[in-house]
Amino acid sequence: MKLDEFLRLNAPDELGALAMAVAKSSLTVWESIPFKSGMVAGVNPSGERQKAIDVFSNDEFAEALAATGAAKEIASEEMEEPVKAKGSISVAMDPLDGSSNVETNNPLGSIFGFYSRSLPASGRSLVGALYVTYGSMVTVTLSFGKGVHRFVAVRGPAETSFELMGVNIRLPERPEVYGVGGSRREWVPAVRDFVDSLEGRGLRVRYCGTFVGDYNQVLSRGGMFAYPELVNRPQGKLRLLYETAPMAYINEQAGGYASDGKRNILDIEPKTLPEPSPAYIGSADVVRDLEKAVSATSG
Ligand code: F6P
Ligand code: MN
Repeated sequence: MKLDEFLRLNAPDELGALAMAVAKSSLTVWESIPFKSGMVAGVNPSGERQKAIDVFSNDEFAEALAATGAAKEIASEEMEEPVKAKGSISVAMDPLDGSSNVETNNPLGSIFGFYSRSLPASGRSLVGALYVTYGSMVTVTLSFGKGVHRFVAVRGPAETSFELMGVNIRLPERPEVYGVGGSRREWVPAVRDFVDSLEGRGLRVRYCGTFVGDYNQVLSRGGMFAYPELVNRPQGKLRLLYETAPMAYINEQAGGYASDGKRNILDIEPKTLPEPSPAYIGSADVVRDLEKAVSATSG
């Protein structure tokens, strides 16, 4: 089944239009990566002035989302102020997650949260979320509150379409992998001890340096991704609206749990658009154990 047909059958019209716009633009973004990041010397296919890939992907997605007529506002990690539009859904996005991975050709991603309320809003007002991976495959993983489904870009003779690749994706029972951002000496001691204990539970480290890529493998293999509380950066690095709440929504739909160390990430009411928080996301039992370990040591 193709994505457009799936959306027609399974998503409210406005959400379907937004998701389809994201999927189409993700192909444009992906094809632009070598040129817009200066990887192809002296080549500029459209003859326009070069924009950096993060700005390009921001503008590409923002324009496509606005053109659907379904967005009320579009907020982005790359923009100071949200773009206002006429629809009813607030979109928060990280248009190119992990852009420092371009040079080394490690995975990249894009993250979208679809909120029913004006932003900033908590993850409880999410009505859908979606992430794109640009890895060995371009995939769209999404949820509109009824399970997690995945589509993969497939090139046909006339056009590239997104074909159904997985329905009702669930985190596996047995956790296998973990990845933790920042550096070990910056992690607060409770996190360091907990990570050590994961090795004892048989989990192996797998870290690519892009939240989307790191979370995506946790979704497939079970385990935990964290960008934790750091000694000199208690709020960690990842942003609630653009990054962690949409991924927490998908993760919950897949049977997992996401925490800031004390509470469900979806319950946090951010006061500002770029508000960060520590994030621990993945298999429910692992993340709940982490929460116990961290809260036992914090005052
Ligand atoms: O969006 C920020 C980001 O690029 C994430 O994709 C990634 O998880 C994190 O930074 C990696 O940060 P660090 O290099 O500090 O581990
Ligand atoms: Mn990011």
